[in-house]
Amino acid sequence: MGRVALVTGGSRGIGEAISKALQAEGFQVAATYAGNDEAAAKFSAETGIKTYKWNVADYASSKAGIAQVEADLGPIEVVVANAGITRDAPFHKMTPEQWNEVIDTNLTGVFNTIHPIWPGMRERKFGRVIVISSINGQKGQFAQTNYAATKAGDLGIVKSLAQEGARAGITANAICPGYIATEMVMAIPEKVRDSIIANIPAGRLGEPSEIARCVCFLASDDSGFINGSTISANGAQFFV
Ligand code: CAA
Repeated sequence: MGRVALVTGGSRGIGEAISKALQAEGFQVAATYAGNDEAAAKFSAETGIKTYKWNVADYASSKAGIAQVEADLGPIEVVVANAGITRDAPFHKMTPEQWNEVIDTNLTGVFNTIHPIWPGMRERKFGRVIVISSINGQKGQFAQTNYAATKAGDLGIVKSLAQEGARAGITANAICPGYIATEMVMAIPEKVRDSIIANIPAGRLGEPSEIARCVCFLASDDSGFINGSTISANGAQFFV
């Protein structure tokens, strides 16, 4: 049996492509979702990948959910912290609720996802931690002070974990997708979206499978010396 991989937000969008790609590489995949039962059921029926429902913003739920995945499939050796939300608004209009929801899911949610898995990885001397950050954590974005703060914070988590895990055979890396053709990007007003695409040198949105490709690379046993890095996949829209 292949290694066990957990993908949060793994039944839709970029996460769906990641779950499918890891499965194709031979991993035993568990995908989490927060609320869309219908999409999760459809995804499971199509792929045979087991889905688990919990809110990554809640530590106790994450810990219990992870224990259930490990009871069902075995120790989690690859974790992809992918679940994320947007609550876009110019800063002068942003409410504390919009700020907190995004921080709780995209930043604290990454802690809640990795923290219960980390001790087992240390004991077994193997782990692959992959965090899906964003181009907007690198460059900032109008109307995304909350989201950009979390995605920049995710890079800080990865760089710190890379140092803590290196001697224990654990790598931690980030991927910064640019604008990818998912529901999240399709929710941007069309006129604004068109102007964003016009500024992507590739002249198009990215495909979820192009992010999944990066995850498979980092998840592989052969990627042990790639640690603390950030892979940008953005069609040449932004260089660090
Ligand atoms: N730069 C400068 N000005 C901008 C701007 C930008 N990028 N985007 C909008 N504006 C300006 C508008 O031109 C408009 O100006 P005027 O008032 O002079 O006409 C003003 O800001 C709009 O302000 P409003 O107060 O009317 O804005 P709003 O409350 O209606 O909010 C919005 C609109 C939420 C900003 C909307 O334009 C939007 O969704 N923008 C896209 C934000 C974005 O890129 N989000 C990324 C989502 S995808 C993602 O997050 C995935 C990932 O990782 C890449």
